[in-house]
Amino acid sequence: MTALAAGAQQPSEETLRLARAVYAGRLQAAFQRSPVARIADWIAAGQAPTAESLRAAGLTTRSTDPERVRELRLARKVFVRTWGFSIPCAEAIGVLSRLGPLVEIGAGSGYWTALLRHAGLDAIATDAAATGNIGYGFEAGRFCPVEPLSGHAAVRAHPERDVFCAWPTEGSPWALAAVRAMPVGRRLALIGEPRGGITGTPGLHHFLETRFQLLGALAIPQFPRCADQLSVYQRTR
Ligand SMILES: C[S@@+](CC[C@H](N)C(=O)[O-])C[C@H]1O[C@@H](n2cnc3c(N)ncnc32)[C@H](O)[C@@H]1O
Repeated sequence: MTALAAGAQQPSEETLRLARAVYAGRLQAAFQRSPVARIADWIAAGQAPTAESLRAAGLTTRSTDPERVRELRLARKVFVRTWGFSIPCAEAIGVLSRLGPLVEIGAGSGYWTALLRHAGLDAIATDAAATGNIGYGFEAGRFCPVEPLSGHAAVRAHPERDVFCAWPTEGSPWALAAVRAMPVGRRLALIGEPRGGITGTPGLHHFLETRFQLLGALAIPQFPRCADQLSVYQRTR
């Protein structure tokens, strides 16, 4: 039963405050026990563990242990509210390092670009919202300076750079507008879910399937119930 029974007392403000504090403590504890607890160190060092080691620690959508899944779902809330949506790994840094100079679009907190820069890559971060809390919990531009540019404006402003985009907004056309602005020959590294998932739009998938060549895909670590992977495309027409 979730609703209060008729005549039952509403919890006091103090009870609610205590309940929120207990929940926040549980989230933090789950995060500290999780395999992503050292993400701040990864970013500072420009290095991350291998995908295989992170998957072995439970960071895969195939994880079936219910207790581990529950813990990692709690840890994910802290991860997303502080950093963002996808989990870096050594192989992803390697794939991105083989592209040209990068412009990240929709960069959010800027944690990926910060990590890539510390790994020695030439990368710049852009987002339509470059500062402040934009509704996901994380602070835009917290980990590196973010140029205030929409996706397609960023691609147009940096035509010589390959494009990196992680978790384009579900149901929003901005990422499609951005890839439409990419010149033939430019490469796109995209972290997102397959068609039907919770990133991007069907139109984005269709445009990539018809105007780009898929050069390769990398299985990155995933939080339970997330199906994101890193795909690299090249615009062909
Ligand atoms: C789901 S979040 C992903 C953030 C970050 N890439 C990550 O993986 O954590 C989507 C991001 O798209 C940005 N965004 C929304 N509209 C945009 C637009 N028109 N152009 C560029 N970025 C946009 C949001 O500000 C937000 O940072």
